[in-house]
Parts: sequence; C-alpha cells; structure tokens
Amino acid sequence: MITDSTIWMSMPVATVVIDKDDKISDINPAAEGFFNSSAKALTGTPIWDKLAVDAPIERALGRARANMSPLFVNDINVGTGERAPLQCTLQIAPLSGFDGMMILMISPRELAGRLSQSEGVKSAAKSAIGMAEMLAHEIKNPLAGITGAAQLLSMNLSSEDLELTDLIVEESRRIVKLLDQVEQFGNLHAPDLDSVNLHDVLNRARRSTLLGVGARMTIQEHYDPSLPHAHVDKDQLLQVILNLLKNASEAAPETGGTIKLRTYFEHSYSLRRSGGDGRALPLQIEVIDDGPGLPPELADNVFDPFVSGRENGTGLGLALVSKIIADHGGWVAVDSIPGRTVFRLSLPMATKSPSQNKDTA
Ligand SMILES: Nc1ncnc2c1ncn2[C@@H]1O[C@H](COP(=O)(O)OP(=O)(O)OP(=O)(O)O)[C@@H](O)[C@H]1O
Ligand SMILES: [Mg+2]
Repeated sequence: MITDSTIWMSMPVATVVIDKDDKISDINPAAEGFFNSSAKALTGTPIWDKLAVDAPIERALGRARANMSPLFVNDINVGTGERAPLQCTLQIAPLSGFDGMMILMISPRELAGRLSQSEGVKSAAKSAIGMAEMLAHEIKNPLAGITGAAQLLSMNLSSEDLELTDLIVEESRRIVKLLDQVEQFGNLHAPDLDSVNLHDVLNRARRSTLLGVGARMTIQEHYDPSLPHAHVDKDQLLQVILNLLKNASEAAPETGGTIKLRTYFEHSYSLRRSGGDGRALPLQIEVIDDGPGLPPELADNVFDPFVSGRENGTGLGLALVSKIIADHGGWVAVDSIPGRTVFRLSLPMATKSPSQNKDTA
C-alpha cells in the first residue's frame, strides 16, 4: 500500500514543512541529506537559522503565507552554514488544511548544471588535448636538436656568451617538461578499477603534499570512518587528490592556509548520463581550502585544459582531474567563494567486500 508517508520518505527533493513561526516542523530524508542533519535535530529550529539565502526570501515567504499562494524562486544561493552555498530553485506553497504552515522544496541546480558541463568539458578537452599532443610530439624532436646544438656551441664560448647558450638549454628544458605533461595527459590509460580504501589514498596524498608545503600549510582530516571502499584506480585517484592539494596550496597566501580533507556518504547522489543508466555515486571526497577562491573570470572554465590563473601554470591540473573522474563514471564539482573553495568528488562504491581487496593497506 502506498501511503502519504511512503511518498514523503521517498521524495528525492529536499522538502521542509515550516510552521507559522517559521520553525521547522518536519523534513523528509532528502532534506536530512541536504542539511546533513537528522529530522530529530532539526525539528523546532527556526528555518532561517539553518538556511542562509542571498535573497529577501523571508519576506516573500510571509507574502506567500498571507496570500495563500505558491511562490517560486529561481537561481538563488542557498547555504546551510556547513557547506558552501549551492545554486538552488526554491518552491514554496501553503500546506493545505494547516493554517499558516508552509512547505518548502529545495532543488539544487548544480546537478543539472554540472552534468552537462562535464560532457561539454570532455569533448572540448578531447579536441584541445588531441591537438596539443600532436604539437608536443612535433616540437620535442627539433627541440632536442636545438638543445644539443646549444650545448655543442657552448664548448668554445667565453663565459659571457655561455649565459646565452645556458638560457637556450634551460628554456628548452622547460618547454620539454610542459610537453611531457601534455603527452602524459594523452597517455592516460583506462582506470584499473579495484576496491580501494579512500582514506589510504587521501593519507598518501596528504603526506606527500606536506613534504613540499608542510611549513606553510595545515591539512586537516575530517573522515567518516565507516565509509565503504570505492571502485577506483588508486594511482589515478592519488593523482587527482595531489592535483587538488597542489592547487589549494598554490592558491594560499604566503602566510599559509588550511586545507580540509573531508569524506562522507551521501546515498542520494547518482549520475544519469545521456543515453546511460543511473549510477549511484555515494562516496564523497571534499578538498576544502580557505584561500582566496577561484579567479571569477576563470570560474566557469577551470576544468578546461590550458586554463590557468597562475604565472607558471600549464592549466592541465584540473583538466586531468576532470578526465580521470569522468573515466571513473564519477563527477567533480566546485563551489568557490573567497575564503572557502570546495572541490567535491563523487565516486562509486566497490561491490566486492573489502576483505577481498588486494592491496589497499
Ligand atoms: N583551490 C583553488 N583556489 C583558487 N584558485 C584555484 C584553485 N584551484 C584551481 N584554481 C585556479 O584554477 C586554475 C586552473 O588550475 P589547474 O590545476 O587546472 O592549472 P594550474 O594549477 O594553473 O596549472 P598546473 O596544475 O598544470 O600546474 C589555477 O591556475 C587557479 O587560478
Ligand atoms: Mg594545478
């Protein structure tokens, strides 16, 4: 028998019932996920203590209540105090039969937005990378010749002129390094999937990042100890986390900064690709930094190859992140405001039991 309560419990949209004093009277499981808190803990708390919005929504809610009419608000930023704001659509309606009570539905726009983005990124990345790979190959050969010739020349030169040949050699090396990175991008093999303990990968990435920037940066761990194993290629995932930690460290001011590595389980996340089946992606990893945030002019394109806001950046770090995560059938999202930048990875769970796992220790 389908009851109202079954429907309420299964509704995929975060929904809150608000009483006449704007206090939370009931919330469904999807809203528990959105607030990252239980219905028990939230019932009775004023809604505006739990929800931060960047629009005069309180007044609008009052009007909808007074007029007994529904209200839609598109594209406003909704934060929960705990996570960075998400762009959402809010739908508000009077709860019929209960005087002054309102029902509020919160649908993050992010899901739709970032899925189409990831497909777009993939094809844009493919063509740009394909061309860069071809160029990389073509440029490396003559460059080796140029470097060799400069080195031969340098044998008979005075020390002043040596500076010039050294410059040629040094700059050529820099270009070769860049081209190697481009080629590495093209050589990425399909992920070798295994059942992997994400915390092992995060710890490895954390330790190796701290070796380089430990004097400036603090990396905190906020792990969900009961997180199940993931179905991923652990070397590729390590590369992803290293790239995100590197970016966060590079974005931090001279005086240093703090990065949080957070993991949690979110059963309601799944991904539906065009033409494919829905796929559950319940394992979440967040890399959160307190730096200045993405440069606004790059914010829409950071996952594109060769987009960089840094003097010596190649702009391949996040393109690689995006490609690897897409190859895993996962997704990556970013929310950034000054003081809080969150890169979130959503990954599939391993089907094998952890005990069958080969080598994640
Ligand atoms: N955590 C962050 N905070 C602020 N800005 C960031 C952050 N992560 C990335 N960015 C911005 O996004 C740009 C693109 O990052 P990406 O890793 O793709 O390239 P890069 O770091 O410039 O070069 P590479 O990683 O190849 O050395 C960066 O140059 C930087 O401007
Ligand atoms: Mg980078």
